[in-house]
Amino acid sequence: MNTPVPEYLADLLRNCKAFEGGQLATYIPELASADPNKLAVALTTLDGIIYTAGDDEYEFSIQSISKAFAYAFVIEELGSTVVKEKVGVEPSGEAFNEISLDQTEERAKPKNPMINSGAITVHSLIPKTTRADRAETIRQFFSKLAGRDLSFDLSIYESEKDTAFRNLSIGYSLRNLDVLESDPVEIVESYIKQCSINVTVKDLANMTSVLVNDGVLPTTGERILSRQTVRQVLTVMTTCGMYNAAGNWLANVGIPAKSGVSGGIIGVLPGQVGLAVFAPKLDQYGNSVRGIDIMQQMSNDMGLHLL
Ligand code: DON
Repeated sequence: MNTPVPEYLADLLRNCKAFEGGQLATYIPELASADPNKLAVALTTLDGIIYTAGDDEYEFSIQSISKAFAYAFVIEELGSTVVKEKVGVEPSGEAFNEISLDQTEERAKPKNPMINSGAITVHSLIPKTTRADRAETIRQFFSKLAGRDLSFDLSIYESEKDTAFRNLSIGYSLRNLDVLESDPVEIVESYIKQCSINVTVKDLANMTSVLVNDGVLPTTGERILSRQTVRQVLTVMTTCGMYNAAGNWLANVGIPAKSGVSGGIIGVLPGQVGLAVFAPKLDQYGNSVRGIDIMQQMSNDMGLHLL
């Protein structure tokens, strides 16, 4: 690949505009009014240099991409043994909003932290402090990774909270099984607030850089995550990050990834690059249609496939 990176990224977006298909998410009413034509891409190198193209200043809610970083946070706080007792690491093969419990062990637990039931449980493990509730604690952590103060999108938050019947029913079921250990409504609402944190593709690329660089934030040199934590997070991103499309993703793109229902996708090739794309229209699995196309192109052009 001889084209300079900024031109390469701009070309990618130009070519991808021809790529039609997909639908906006509608189960969160506020997402249904998103601009379907927004399109952005960002790439971070191992040393934290960021390249972007398209609507790279446009903010969107992080949604399920938050699940990967919240998982990293609780593993760092509580240790992987404690977290693995609560949430498994097996792909569910089901949609992201299925409860997908692993019942084979002594007690029930969500199959993995990338589906909603697992992510709600992970959120419940974020320690509450006198100064910050769980959503605020995770906003501060994400802000540190992004290198700027991120905000909540309160209209997205309210919109999802008002129609969160499915996540609430998952929350009540998890409470019934003692997977959640306190008020499920409070936990689900706080998890929804986590999903509403505003990011740009540049923020996501910065956040991704800590996973690319083995737990050290390249922009500051600070170790944020242990090697073990990074390995654990990238493992579940590889097997579960794209939900029941994870197999196709691995075959075609071949790097650990996580998608969100507002249209973002991150991808990580450890020790090499981090990628972030944003395009709001989704396929039937809840993954961005143009986002997948762009990621696939980048994987082909730069030879990123792990295998
Ligand atoms: O739990 C939910 O329904 C959303 N806040 C996040 C879901 C999501 O992003 C699924 N990803 N494609």
